[in-house]
Amino acid sequence: MSYAARDDRPADKAERYAELAGEIAAALSAEPDRIARMATVCSMLNDAFETYFWTGFYLVDPAKGDELVVGPYQGTLGCLRIAFGRGVCGAAARERRTQIVEDVHAFPGHIACDSRSNSEIVVPVVDAAGKLIAVFDVDSTAFAAFDAVDAEWLERIMKATFAV
Ligand code: SME
Repeated sequence: MSYAARDDRPADKAERYAELAGEIAAALSAEPDRIARMATVCSMLNDAFETYFWTGFYLVDPAKGDELVVGPYQGTLGCLRIAFGRGVCGAAARERRTQIVEDVHAFPGHIACDSRSNSEIVVPVVDAAGKLIAVFDVDSTAFAAFDAVDAEWLERIMKATFAV
């Protein structure tokens, strides 16, 4: 049964993230492949929160160094490439800092892949050596869907999953 359909999910967002962090770690304990890990994280998080409308990774393209290319995602068609510094994902990659945007239409340079997205959170993803490998992007159709609780838990999950 999908996580979304379970009736034993904690109502509290932080508790739900904490439970998911354990479930993600358990699901990935024997799988080293990075793309498989990214695809699994996307699926499990996307399934757990109704607020998640588009959920996915943009990977640092090693051939370019300063450009992101779309990776595993759940949702409608995402744009394929984003230069560092462009839009919310590009800002997170360039600054290596989580971006929480309450209204994407007010964000300078926001890239509208789907006009139904109204708010967004983007978390940098680093490997064990501290090198930026990707950003994790979640969009919502609600305004101001993401806050410090999402940032804290998504940062923790990304660290536990990819900085190992
Ligand atoms: N809105 C993002 C682009 C990626 S998509 O939303 C899938 C941005 O401005 O970075």
